[in-house]
Amino acid sequence: MSTTQENLMTAFAGESQANRKYLAFAKKAEAEGKPGLAKLFRAAAEGETVHALNYLLIGGKIGSSLENVQGAIQGETYEINEMYPGFVEQANTENNAGAAMKMGSALKVEQVHQQLFKAAEVALATEGDIELKEYFVCGVCGYPAEGEAPEKCPICGAPREKFTRLV
Ligand SMILES: [Fe+2]
Ligand SMILES: [Fe+2]
Repeated sequence: MSTTQENLMTAFAGESQANRKYLAFAKKAEAEGKPGLAKLFRAAAEGETVHALNYLLIGGKIGSSLENVQGAIQGETYEINEMYPGFVEQANTENNAGAAMKMGSALKVEQVHQQLFKAAEVALATEGDIELKEYFVCGVCGYPAEGEAPEKCPICGAPREKFTRLV
């Protein structure tokens, strides 16, 4: 990999993180009754997304939709089989119950992602796309419900009101 290729991937990672941090900071500013600062954080976050997506594209990391789905399956599988089990175990060893709980529920959500992507891989090959559906995402654990929000999140138990409909 050339140094510039490495730099693109490093910058992609940094800008991606800055995007999520700024969105979290915007929420915090809103909670503190600072809508002006919240909006600045959201504007900066949007710019970081532009940067991140530019680097991903120039870095040649966006493939065909089939390749992208296959890459997603690989990523989810790594998180399920290697990353999260080790991280959860380590968190338990360190008596960090919060981290163990959040990463444990994330692992279960990644299993759902993995299955959805595997089904998508099959559908892409046969139908060219998957059925267009409504998705509702749990605001506590990230579980994606298809069609409608459940009464209770099957992974974390959060009530229906915690789900956000994807637009
Ligand atoms: Fe995932
Ligand atoms: Fe949940």
